[in-house]
Amino acid sequence: MKPREIVPNVHLIGAVDWDRRLFDALIPLPDGTSYNAYFVQGSEQNALIDTVDPVHWRTLSRQLDQLPAPDYLVIHHVEQDHSGSTPMLLERFPELTIVCNEKCRAMLIDHLHVDDARFQVVADGETLSLGDKTLTFLFTPWVHWPETMSTWLDEDRILFSCDFFGSHYATSDVFADKHEVYDGAKRYYAEIMMPFGAQVLKNIEKVTQYPIAFIGPSHGPVYDDPGFIIEAYRDWAGGEPQNIVCLPYVTMHDSTRLMVDYLTAALTDRGVAVERFDLTTLDAGELASSLVHAGTIVLGTPTVLTGPHPLAAYAAFLANALKPRAKYATVIGSYGWAGKTVETLVGMMPKLKVELLEAVLAKGMPREADYAALDALADTIAEKHKGLAPRNFADFTVCRTDR
Ligand code: FEO
Repeated sequence: MKPREIVPNVHLIGAVDWDRRLFDALIPLPDGTSYNAYFVQGSEQNALIDTVDPVHWRTLSRQLDQLPAPDYLVIHHVEQDHSGSTPMLLERFPELTIVCNEKCRAMLIDHLHVDDARFQVVADGETLSLGDKTLTFLFTPWVHWPETMSTWLDEDRILFSCDFFGSHYATSDVFADKHEVYDGAKRYYAEIMMPFGAQVLKNIEKVTQYPIAFIGPSHGPVYDDPGFIIEAYRDWAGGEPQNIVCLPYVTMHDSTRLMVDYLTAALTDRGVAVERFDLTTLDAGELASSLVHAGTIVLGTPTVLTGPHPLAAYAAFLANALKPRAKYATVIGSYGWAGKTVETLVGMMPKLKVELLEAVLAKGMPREADYAALDALADTIAEKHKGLAPRNFADFTVCRTDR
C-alpha cells in the first residue's frame, strides 16, 4: 500500500493487520487492527511519527522507499506495536534522531536497547519546527502507558494521538466511517482505557484546547470528524452508570443456568436491561464493552470444590483490572456441600467501588425459596437503579443520527 495523503505533505503509512485475532495474548480482535505511522514532510525537515509492529517492518520500509528520508522519529509510546520497528529504522537511517519524552527514552532503552546517543528529549508543550510545519508535543499519560504523549501539527490542525481514540479495526479506508468504527472504538476504550477513566477525561480536556480538524490515532482509521469520537470518549469515561445489569455466568449442570434465566426474566419484568455473557464462549471485549455503562455486575457461578468456577474467577479478575464504574455487585449460583465462593469472588474485586448486594446461593438445584430470593434481588436492583441514568443509546446515536 502506498503512503496515503491526509492533507498535502502529511501521509498515513504503516500496516493494516487484517488477520490478527489476538492482542497481548488477551484481547480478541474480531476486526483485525492496524499500526499507523505518519509522515510529516516540512519545507526544511521531515518527521516520521511512530513505527509499526516489527512483524510488519518490511511494509513500513517499502513505504519509506517512496518518501524522503526522515530527520526525526517521534515515538509516542513504547508498547512494541508502535515502537517495535525503531531499531530497524535507526539502522536504515543513521542520522535519524528519536524525539520523545524522558520516560519514553528510559523505557525504549529498557525494552529495545536503543542507543542513548540517538535521543532528543522534549518537554510537555515543547515545539519542533520542520520549516512550514510545527509539531507540539503534548504529554497524555495513561492513554495508554505513563510515557504516552500526543503530537499536535499546528498548520494542518492534526492531533496524532497514539492509542488515545484508537480502534482495533482493519480497513482500507483512510478516514473513519463512524457508523462502522463505533463498536470497535468502544471495545478498544473498554479494553485499554477504562482503567484510566479519570486520566482520559483530563487528557480530553488537554487536547481539546486545540482546534482539532483531524485525529490520527495509532490504530484504526483517521477521524476527519473528531467531534464524534471526542464526545463518545466523554460519554464512556464520564457518563453515569446506566440501568443495566452485566451478567457473566458459567454453569456446569444447569442449576446456575436456571438461576441466571430466572433473574434475567425477573430483572426484565422490572424494567432493568440485562447483558448476559456465557463465560465458556466469552469474547472478553464484549464483556468489557458492557462494563462501560453497567450499573450492576452479577456474577453467576457454581461452586467447584470450595470456590468459584475458574471462569467466574477470570471474569472477576478482569472486572477488577478494568475498574468499571458500576455501583453495585453480587453473586448468584449453586453449591453442592459448602464453600467460600462469594468471599473468594468479592476478594478478587477490591478495586471496584461497589455496594455489595446480598448473594443468592442455592444448595443443588434451586427451590422455591431460592427463586424468591432472586425475586428479592431483582426488586433491590430495580430500586437501586432508580438512582442511575436510564439505559439509553445516546452513545450510539452519536454515530447514527445522520443515517
Ligand atoms: Fe497500541 Fe499501548 O499500544
